Amino acid sequence: MTRKVTILGATGSIGQQALDVARAHPEELQVVAMSAHTRIEQLIPLVQEFRPRFVAVHTVEQARVVRAQCPFVEVGFGEEALQDAASLTESSMLLNALVGAAGIRSTLAALQAGIDVALANKETLVAAGDLVLDAARVAKVKILPVDSEHSAITQCLQDAHSPTDVEKLLLTASGGPFRTASKADLLRVTVQDALAHPTWTMGAKISIDSATLMNKGLEVIEAHFLFDVPYSDIEILIHPQSIIHSMVQFRDGAVLAQLGSPDMRIPIQYALLGDQGRLAANWKRLNWSEVSQLTFELPDIEKFPAISLAYECGIAQKTYPAVMNAANETAVYAFLAGHIHFLEIVEIVRRVVEAHQAEVGMGLDEIFAADRWARETAQSLIAKRGL
Ligand SMILES: NC(=O)c1ccc[n+]([C@@H]2O[C@H](COP(=O)([O-])OP(=O)(O)OC[C@H]3O[C@@H](n4cnc5c(N)ncnc54)[C@H](OP(=O)(O)O)[C@@H]3O)[C@@H](O)[C@H]2O)c1
Repeated sequence: MTRKVTILGATGSIGQQALDVARAHPEELQVVAMSAHTRIEQLIPLVQEFRPRFVAVHTVEQARVVRAQCPFVEVGFGEEALQDAASLTESSMLLNALVGAAGIRSTLAALQAGIDVALANKETLVAAGDLVLDAARVAKVKILPVDSEHSAITQCLQDAHSPTDVEKLLLTASGGPFRTASKADLLRVTVQDALAHPTWTMGAKISIDSATLMNKGLEVIEAHFLFDVPYSDIEILIHPQSIIHSMVQFRDGAVLAQLGSPDMRIPIQYALLGDQGRLAANWKRLNWSEVSQLTFELPDIEKFPAISLAYECGIAQKTYPAVMNAANETAVYAFLAGHIHFLEIVEIVRRVVEAHQAEVGMGLDEIFAADRWARETAQSLIAKRGL
């Protein structure tokens, strides 16, 4: 049976690759809704190609433009339209490929509507992990990871008979563009340098997160929630070739790894259609004669303080991960706009986290209040910098 899927963030890196998966499997996947935020010119040909029933955009003007060029589709705008798309009754799966905490409400809307969520938007779990897992439990629906590391772990865990079989998760990381740079080199990093990831092509925010290694910190928290593994049993391993996407070490000493080309269409397809087996796809194969070596090293936590900060915030729980995430978003966009230096990104995040008094409750209101406070606090630290 054809799976009907909503793709939020269709104009982004993950969204576009998900549409490639839909092109490769027209019998198995039908796109019934999609969204864009700013890139309306890119959205229109996608709407004309995939003919979804519903499209969500950001502003009323954008909605007018899409309606004029695609009169066959229903178009909504604003936050409400995103949630309408996420909870569309004819859809059986949401691919949440939005970036940042902006994705939280859509994930919850889908789960509450009884719709499975293929989750690329890791910030959802970082900021609101407990709430999201509760919503999935209550509605008895699945959260399927899209991140290549978490997809790899999901695949390795097929062999686990019980949670106690798992000794530790080994999250691999390329190390980003500055793996071999000195601390002094990091003082001179430009936006262009930081966006140039050695193995993956991704959106701007995650590319900067990969350069600071905050992305790996976010993934540690994501793994904690997805696999219910304590932080002490989640280890980061730098693996510059990005061939092993992550590993699980079992209590008998065996280690299972999942390998493949660094191509996000493989984990996206696994999230969207993995329950139907390994459907044939002609994504690039690993050429073993070109893979001359697989190397591993521990991360340099002094050079990349985002890693320890993420573990600390994850362990502290409450609103700390939400605050870290929001401060990081603000600092990353300030770096991209040329307002702060590269090394200041994580420094600002740390200062915001240290100033935070955790909220008492842990509902969505507390999470969004903490998120707003963190953005304002980060913003005022950035403004004082006056670059
Ligand atoms: N790219 C990867 O390889 C990769 C791998 C693993 C995980 N992820 C995760 O997947 C998510 C998406 O990453 P990406 O690289 O695809 O990002 P991206 O290329 O920047 O795309 C983000 C998408 O979200 C939309 N968007 C941005 N801000 C929004 C807002 N405030 N409200 C509604 N929509 C908004 C964008 O719309 P417009 O483009 O129209 O503005 C775009 O469609 C992130 O959480 C990232 O960490 C990405």
